[in-house]
Amino acid sequence: MLNFDYYNPTRIVFGEGSIARLDELVPADARVLVLYGGGSAERNGTLAEVEAALAGRSVQRFGGIEPNPAYETLMEAVALVRREKLDFLLAVGGGSVIDGTKFVAAAVGYDGEPWNILETYGKHIAQAVPMGCVLTLPATGSEMNCFSVITRKSLQAKLGFASPLVFPRFSVLDPVKTYSLPPRQIANGAVDAFVHVMEQYMTRPAAAPVQDRYAEGLLQTLIEVGPQALAEPGNYEVRANLMWAATQALNGLIGAGVPQDWATHMIGHEITALHGLDHAQTLAVVQPSLLALRREVKRDKLLQYAARVWNIHSGSADERIERAIAQTRDFFESLGVKTRLRDYGIGAEAIDLIIARLEAHGMTALGEDRAIDPALARRILQASL
Ligand code: NZQ
Ligand code: ZN
Repeated sequence: MLNFDYYNPTRIVFGEGSIARLDELVPADARVLVLYGGGSAERNGTLAEVEAALAGRSVQRFGGIEPNPAYETLMEAVALVRREKLDFLLAVGGGSVIDGTKFVAAAVGYDGEPWNILETYGKHIAQAVPMGCVLTLPATGSEMNCFSVITRKSLQAKLGFASPLVFPRFSVLDPVKTYSLPPRQIANGAVDAFVHVMEQYMTRPAAAPVQDRYAEGLLQTLIEVGPQALAEPGNYEVRANLMWAATQALNGLIGAGVPQDWATHMIGHEITALHGLDHAQTLAVVQPSLLALRREVKRDKLLQYAARVWNIHSGSADERIERAIAQTRDFFESLGVKTRLRDYGIGAEAIDLIIARLEAHGMTALGEDRAIDPALARRILQASL
């Protein structure tokens, strides 16, 4: 029986030239901190455009937020916001900058050690500094959700939190700002968005045809525009549709009221924390073997996926499932994202520690049925070698 509470307050301002709209989106009397990454936003002119749009306001910058944003770096931004009494945060970048900004927003007024936000999955956040986003990398959906994933380097831990208080007030999505992305990041983005849809769709039937068909539409769109975005970096329509698909893949709508998996992500986060793989690379490695090992519990949805997403209609049920999983792997590979641990120099000797970290982080009952225990996670990793 469908039963859910769907809430999403983020306003989306989409299209070429939309950064100029910041003037009406950010309060005129705001004391703004613009947060950004390693310099791409500076190099491609996005930062200058943002600051021009904010003219007349008090604006400070905080750069250097790294991919897989680090708690250690973000705490410097927290100190700056507290010291300068800044009251509006503007993230300019990809998922890492946006996630990092969400953490800063929640940490500034947090009662106690802010790492506790991650340890308690955001449960005790009572307030957050308002924030907005200018997205430069279509991938995570962070621009329209209330999740954030933070790494604490000293602990080699990568943990997430969620809070309705860190929904961005608005996100500006200008596809032109993605033209400067290197192919690796475009491919990563398409894979991440694809797997976000799969985490919410590839479970068991839940009498939710709206969510199912919406998810299948997003998957088909990603299969279509992912390769095009690599082949034609300056094609506005292609970049726009990739961007919009990635945002909708994780803004809560397709996951409303349906069972969700997320085991691929949780196992992937441990691989990134220990070995530094890009987030999407870990997903491309884990997802195909997870699907293969979970083919019985996911049987009905795998058959639906084979037929509706990959147009596989002939052969036995087992053959159709086999082919759908193979096509999924081929899709990731076709974008240039490798799907085996060995492709990243990781061998069987690494598995023990990944499992130990999953256990240490309480990730011992993963998946839509909570049946992925450490023993099954180990088999999934062995099948990913
Ligand atoms: O740091 P700069 O110099 O800006 O370069 C970045 C970075 O090196 C570059 N980049 C971004 N926009 C660019 C650009 N380069 C050229 N032109 C542009 N327009 O791309 C590199 C990667 O950026 P990053 O933000 O790390 O990538 P992504 O958006 O894939 O974010 C990944 C992070 O998001 C988390 C991941 O775990 C990872 O930490 N996730 C967040 C989620 C959420 N909040 O809902 C869900 C996801 O499952 C994911 O876990
Ligand atoms: Zn992801």
